[in-house]
Amino acid sequence: MKQEIGWIGLGRMGIPMSMRLLKEGYPLTIYNRTNGKDEILASQGAKVALSPAQIIQQTNIIVIMVSDDKAIREIFTGTDGLLSAVESDKIIINMSTVSPGISKEMSGLCLKQSIYYLDAPVSGSVKQAESGELVIMVGGEGTIFIKVKPILDHLGKLTIRVGDTGAGNVAKLAVNTLLGIISQGLAESVIFARNNGIETQDFLNIINNGAMSSAYLKIKGDAILQNRFQAAFALKHIVKDLRLARESGLKTPLGETAYKTFKEVESELGEEDIIAIIKRL
Ligand SMILES: NC(=O)c1ccc[n+]([C@@H]2O[C@H](COP(=O)([O-])OP(=O)(O)OC[C@H]3O[C@@H](n4cnc5c(N)ncnc54)[C@H](OP(=O)(O)O)[C@@H]3O)[C@@H](O)[C@H]2O)c1
Repeated sequence: MKQEIGWIGLGRMGIPMSMRLLKEGYPLTIYNRTNGKDEILASQGAKVALSPAQIIQQTNIIVIMVSDDKAIREIFTGTDGLLSAVESDKIIINMSTVSPGISKEMSGLCLKQSIYYLDAPVSGSVKQAESGELVIMVGGEGTIFIKVKPILDHLGKLTIRVGDTGAGNVAKLAVNTLLGIISQGLAESVIFARNNGIETQDFLNIINNGAMSSAYLKIKGDAILQNRFQAAFALKHIVKDLRLARESGLKTPLGETAYKTFKEVESELGEEDIIAIIKRL
């Protein structure tokens, strides 16, 4: 019998990731702040909890996949939050992209209750979440990491511990700094080529067959060609990630530029995909 897992956060990433564990035969208890998003998983056999507190009372390993630091603070320290339950010897894996600071703070609170915390953010998007091909970067105690690695391996093609608490978050912010810069770079080069008479299809064909080709440029190039800007990775999330990277010390020319570029359009395009930036450059 596989270990029972608690899952908090059923957004674009949380649903396919938790679904994979359910399909692997892990008994799952799920919680999402807003009602209704639990229906698909519940119809496949997941139990539904009414609060994070109930999740930690009912399961020993809890995975969280939510938006940001604010959500994490509420889930841990809210009235019905994880730490409101008098529980110990649990493992909490926070896979959300959040700051190293909030991970250190929540890990400290957890330790007072003998609860173990790992930060384990992911690289990859909805498609990789569905196929179990995420890249998972983990910060926290090595012995706890080894215990939960078999679970994480169902979600990712690479699960790597990069250091102590918060180190996973730092690695993830560095990856997404590159993501922001590359997305803006792709959009700017497409516009430059188009404004000088080069068909976008031809330009992307050249990129995709040259030394700079990558899975990411292909996916986002196709989205540009098809005018398809529905969020796989919401633009508001890159604003958050570049802001968190700045707060962790990234003060470089391209980092600053990308933050400013995405921030300026967040109110208008925040719910669309990151590559929707091309509409406003
Ligand atoms: N999408 C991607 O391609 C991608 C890739 C890698 C990493 N990530 C990261 O993964 C995380 C989740 O991304 P996503 O795309 O799944 O986001 P999403 O679709 O916007 O879902 C966000 C989830 O967080 C929950 N949430 C937000 N604020 C909350 C709060 N205050 N209390 C409790 N729950 C709260 C939402 O609950 P409600 O339903 O109640 O709003 C929802 O379940 C983010 O940190 C993102 O940066 C995303």
